Amino acid sequence: MQGVLSLDAYDLEGQTVLYRVDVNSPLNPIDKTLLDDSRLRTLKPTLQLLSKSKVVILAHQSRPGKDDFSDMSQHSARLSQIINRDIMFIKDICSDSTIDKIRDMKNGDILFLDNMRIHSEEYSKKYENWQNTEESEIVTKLSSVADLYVTDAFAAAHRKSPTLTGFTTKLPCIPGNLMMSELSNLRTAIDNPPRPYLAILGGAKADDSLRVALNLIQKNIIDKIAFVGVVGNLMIWANGYDIGNRNKDFITNLIGDAFDETWVMAQKLVKQYPDLLILPTDIAVEINEERIPMQLDELPTEYPIYDVGLQSLMNLRPIILNSKCILWNGPASFFEKPGFAFGTIEILNMCIETEALTIIGGGHTSALVSSRGVVDKVTHNSTGGGSTMCLLSGENMPVIESLIKSATIFSDNS
Ligand code: 3PG
Repeated sequence: MQGVLSLDAYDLEGQTVLYRVDVNSPLNPIDKTLLDDSRLRTLKPTLQLLSKSKVVILAHQSRPGKDDFSDMSQHSARLSQIINRDIMFIKDICSDSTIDKIRDMKNGDILFLDNMRIHSEEYSKKYENWQNTEESEIVTKLSSVADLYVTDAFAAAHRKSPTLTGFTTKLPCIPGNLMMSELSNLRTAIDNPPRPYLAILGGAKADDSLRVALNLIQKNIIDKIAFVGVVGNLMIWANGYDIGNRNKDFITNLIGDAFDETWVMAQKLVKQYPDLLILPTDIAVEINEERIPMQLDELPTEYPIYDVGLQSLMNLRPIILNSKCILWNGPASFFEKPGFAFGTIEILNMCIETEALTIIGGGHTSALVSSRGVVDKVTHNSTGGGSTMCLLSGENMPVIESLIKSATIFSDNS
């Protein structure tokens, strides 16, 4: 990428490096253990480059209030196994004792700090539109003991919180190996995606998905958009079907404060662009722990909708096979639940069957690609979900803007 600093230009030995990563990973819904370590594995090359530095890892897991919001101890232990080096986990963000520990580090030491989103500055409404992230306590304290900031948090490059953008003017901010390789792998799909271009948007982050969908449509980047997963259920509802109070409440709570604006976007999509949308025509609900197929005209249901149905998948199949470029983000189903992996796995099978340029992103979806051993059957298995979609839909990327701005400030000082 042009216009950013390069790790090659720095003598990294003995430097204290704040290393921001995104290892937000799927956790087992029952016992909260780490289900997938692929995002952790992608950090190896940069950590190798930083092997003689003092490395302080900054990361987050999920969002406050969510079931999979946890500390980073498991991530730290797993990363230590992956790179075969000791890592000290500190259950803290930036207290004075942590700052002292950073000062005492020796070359080759690695500290893994706790979930950055434990700190109220990092993830709260108040800071969503915060321009001056550099004024935060986290940034002020951590930058006082560091020489460089390196980021491989591509998967959070569409977010603006302090540890993602606050170091811009305080320290040289340098993209790591993963950040560089994501940007170069996604270049073809940004510059000149082959058409027809299909986006399959699933998962639970409906507000992000619908904003990206409108962007893709309004910038004439896309030919068709299929909605599946929780966002698919929301679109069925916006299209006039009563999905039942239980499903409506689930979606409303999940989206929280952003619900009203998300609903407006959903209405706009179904009313203004019906020809571009592919919505589920049937679903599967869970009744007594069993998968039960259901047609949309059987709605409303008091049971949870956990997958798309067979007919929806059959409708999708020719569209996937005729596409020349496919962007898929977010599962079609609650695939960790027995009986409900079907829709997501079928879509994966269709994507690996095509000759199309296939970009798959999102923590859960890309973890599935890795766990089924089909990474080499897709064009790019991105560590980013929302960030990949934002980048490909031409949205602003605060982390990339920060890297570019930092280069203008620090380019002569390497
Ligand atoms: C992700 O996994 O998509 C990133 O970590 C961003 O997570 P967020 O949507 O909670 O900011």
